Amino acid sequence: MTETEQQAPAQVRRFRITRRRHGAARPRVDEFNVAVGPETTLLDALREIRSHQDRSLTLRYSCCHASCGTCGMRANGREVLACVTPLASLGRGPIAVEPLANARVEHDLVVDMRDLYESLEPTGRPLIRQDEQLAGRGAPAPAFARYEDCIECGLCVSACPITGSDPLYPGPAALAAAWRTVAEPRGADPLRVLAWADDEQGCWRCHASFECTEVCPSGVDPAGAVLALRRELTRRKLGQLTRRGRHRR
Ligand code: SF4
Ligand code: SF4
Ligand code: FES
Repeated sequence: MTETEQQAPAQVRRFRITRRRHGAARPRVDEFNVAVGPETTLLDALREIRSHQDRSLTLRYSCCHASCGTCGMRANGREVLACVTPLASLGRGPIAVEPLANARVEHDLVVDMRDLYESLEPTGRPLIRQDEQLAGRGAPAPAFARYEDCIECGLCVSACPITGSDPLYPGPAALAAAWRTVAEPRGADPLRVLAWADDEQGCWRCHASFECTEVCPSGVDPAGAVLALRRELTRRKLGQLTRRGRHRR
């Protein structure tokens, strides 16, 4: 708790944490009580549990200020970054904490992010890790590149019902990155990316319900990007039809 919070009377909150061990058939739910203050975040509470109640609780975090994207999870059914989620925003009752959905759980609240990173590769804006450049494996890596604004947290992917039901759907983060490439190619091939997105299981599969945009902590607006891809594809197809019509006359 912060110094200000230490002066305020502590409140005890109950946490129900869904935990799955790597390879375990089923998850289990463990319950913990934590004394919290008015400014305690979800990450503060989980660290408190890990430090003083159960050292085996596995979670991932780094920056603690909504920048690294590593602390994504679900709290009371909603995708959040734990480091910037005050417990006060999660109602008054017990707080159900779960790992992100639509991702392989590694351990407790930690999911494997490789699927998300790999989903960005066809968009022309892959996440290039600095150690890959330093190691110099294979073809020379391009200059360090990442998709501006997106912090690769996976919250949108977790919230997307289509990602949950169609394993071939690239997901909101990848489609948002694709639109960014089309809007500002910076050396990538926008036509190739548009052709990749133009698929019944690509941007046309989205049902535009904006869950992804609602949970995005970084203002990316993936649903808006999907609609922008559709508009661009429609504009180009109409242009082609018009040109063909002119040639026939
Ligand atoms: S708007 Fe599209 S991409 Fe976003 S959550 Fe809904 S189906 Fe998924
Ligand atoms: S688009 Fe938003 S919610 Fe999705 S991975 Fe990027 S920052 Fe996270
Ligand atoms: S710890 Fe970095 S975004 Fe939460």
